[in-house]
Amino acid sequence: MMGRPEGLKLIDENGKRIDGRKKYELRPIKMEVGVLKNADGSAYIEWGGKNKVLAAVYGPREIHPKHLQRPDRAILRVRYNMAPFSVEERKKPGPDRRSVEISKVIRGGALEPALLLHMFPRTAIDVFIEILQADAGTRVAGITAASLALADAGIPMKDLVAACAAGKIDGEIVLDLNKEEDNYGEADVPVAIMPLKNDITLLQMDGYLTKEEFLEAVRLAIKGAKAVYQKQREALKEKYLKIAQEVEGNE
Ligand code: CDP
Repeated sequence: MMGRPEGLKLIDENGKRIDGRKKYELRPIKMEVGVLKNADGSAYIEWGGKNKVLAAVYGPREIHPKHLQRPDRAILRVRYNMAPFSVEERKKPGPDRRSVEISKVIRGGALEPALLLHMFPRTAIDVFIEILQADAGTRVAGITAASLALADAGIPMKDLVAACAAGKIDGEIVLDLNKEEDNYGEADVPVAIMPLKNDITLLQMDGYLTKEEFLEAVRLAIKGAKAVYQKQREALKEKYLKIAQEVEGNE
């Protein structure tokens, strides 16, 4: 949220946004599962073409340092990291306040409730989310990719976690803000859900909304996340179809 260039309109007289979308339209999303050979699970997402996010999962595996071990369950570790070249102004490498906070909410909030960690005592599950290119909405893209990578690693889950944001621009509640909308809009509300049980696992808000607007944004973000969930299922199916075809080809 910042001061916008004079005269910039985020919604035109026909109700179209600057990238041509309607108010409740998602950006196009592409997902691929199993893209890294040396990880136990992985996924790649392009969200709106301009967000490029890779997720890798290792584990369950032995913990170092050992004193972090939990006798009754696995621990989940998450690192959200932005590549130096992922944003317009080069990002200084390494963790900053923002990425530490995002890693934390993705771990404890968004992903942990979906995992059956008690099945793997004394181990660690490590999730790496690498933002290769950013255009607003990287945490929801990261959560979505991480959950696919966890499924790809064969880690038992109650449900996939799907995420999407809604927000307010030019006084209107809209789905899935892009970079200009995030910069010059009034609010952004990222949401992560486990659709099977209608659970919300992450809910944040940046900016200002009335109670009614907030509820409208949450409802809209949940709808968006449900559409993202369908795409996740398709991406997983595609991966298993490929494996099945390879097995058939070898017979
Ligand atoms: O990415 P997300 O919307 O989850 O988080 P944000 O903190 O609201 O950041 C919004 C956008 O600002 C990011 O997606 C990046 O495009 C941009 N950003 C940036 O240009 N430089 C940074 N150091 C951090 C974020």
